[in-house]
Amino acid sequence: MSRSAHPAGPRHADVLPEGHYSAPPADLNVLDQKVWAQTVGRNDDGVVTVGGVDVKTLAEEYGTPAYVLDEADFRARARAWRTAFGADADVFYAGKAFLSRAVVRWLDEEGLNLDVCSGGELATALSAGMPAERIAFHGNNKSTEEIHRAVEAGVGRIVLDSFQEIVRVAHIAQSLGKRQRVQIRITVGVEAHTHEFIATAHEDQKFGIPLAGGQAAEAVRRALQLDGLEVIGIHSHIGSQIFDMSGFEVAAHRVVGLLKDIRDEHGVELPEIDLGGGLGIAYTSADDPREPHEIAKALTEIVGRECEAARLRTPRISVEPGRAIVGPTAFTLYEVGTVKPLEGLRTYVSVDGGMSDNIRTALYDAEYSVALVSRASDAEPMLARVVGKHCESGDIVVKDAFLPADLAPGDLLAVPATGAYCRSMASNYNHVLRPPVVAVKDGEARVIVRRETEEDLLRLDVG
Ligand code: LLP
Repeated sequence: MSRSAHPAGPRHADVLPEGHYSAPPADLNVLDQKVWAQTVGRNDDGVVTVGGVDVKTLAEEYGTPAYVLDEADFRARARAWRTAFGADADVFYAGKAFLSRAVVRWLDEEGLNLDVCSGGELATALSAGMPAERIAFHGNNKSTEEIHRAVEAGVGRIVLDSFQEIVRVAHIAQSLGKRQRVQIRITVGVEAHTHEFIATAHEDQKFGIPLAGGQAAEAVRRALQLDGLEVIGIHSHIGSQIFDMSGFEVAAHRVVGLLKDIRDEHGVELPEIDLGGGLGIAYTSADDPREPHEIAKALTEIVGRECEAARLRTPRISVEPGRAIVGPTAFTLYEVGTVKPLEGLRTYVSVDGGMSDNIRTALYDAEYSVALVSRASDAEPMLARVVGKHCESGDIVVKDAFLPADLAPGDLLAVPATGAYCRSMASNYNHVLRPPVVAVKDGEARVIVRRETEEDLLRLDVG
């Protein structure tokens, strides 16, 4: 049986997971704007273009695999967050989603702040000229060396994550003759998932100081007593890839409750709260993310309402979106190497990257979309699985996808929504070289993170 002999049909119900869309889209050439970067489209030859540059040209000039990032889209999304929250709030882009010096400059120019969570991210931010006072430093186990560098550089805030860290940061700041602005990260007992949240009595995870048992209040009490610290607020981050605002509602309610307790006990009204990041994006057409202005409105209203009820001055709000800004702005461009139909199951399409450039499918069971981008095709849809070149069977990039049945080696595929947590979580597994990040804008492409070379690999191997 040829590959095209088992297109969409009842058989797919047997091999697709429960709940997965079981019919192919009407036209495989159509690119759902929800999952693709804003400037992506097909030209008259059926070739996909982004920022005015076609993917065949990109593949020829920069090779594959490559992350292709739409700079105008990145800037537009950053601006949309900035505008939505306005002058009375702050937006900190979460650098862990993807960070490079070009990105830091774009953020700076668009008026966003930056959340970093390691010495490496801090070094990247500072080397690209992000003013230190617009940097927040995170992490549940910052080294004394990292804290020292952050305080010395003058970061705008350090988010304290444990009782030990309260003392550590206070001591380091004092030894440098400084008073460090800090927030205290608490765990509010809300565990957020994509479409649900579960209120838990106690948190069973490594981040933050539990609100439960008065621990968070005790942390604030201790921090307020230390000369090296200026306690500016409370921080809460409830999870990632969240669509449902109700988790934030519970979190805001509990954070404001703590602010009230602090006011009642110490006579201090902390001026800021940070509600973290975690807003979801569309990886497939089934996902329905919220727009920044809806999120800003919802969060501002929740906090305003809670503060009014508690008779508190409304604190300045900050948020830390990572994925929601960079995620949709990039796709990964791959070349097809082999096409292997497995009778009665699906067709395995091997590309020239894999779990080293996108670990999310293997790690989180993440779902992605994929499209043939080097040409349009009228062939029937076939049920496919896009896999990488690594030496293990879990090396899956897109678990279930419909691709045209005439797909052949040499075709280019693109996996959209790979801007967040793909390059930043990339590895050298099997000594595969990490792909470059190519930024495109107004008909021009430029490398912002270059492809790794074998020389790079061997440089670390000192024999
Ligand atoms: N703020 C804090 C304190 C965080 O821990 C995180 C993410 C963010 C902000 C940004 O969250 P975002 O808006 O990007 O969802 N590797 C996982 C995600 C890990 C998120 C860790 N913290 C993934 O690929 O889904």
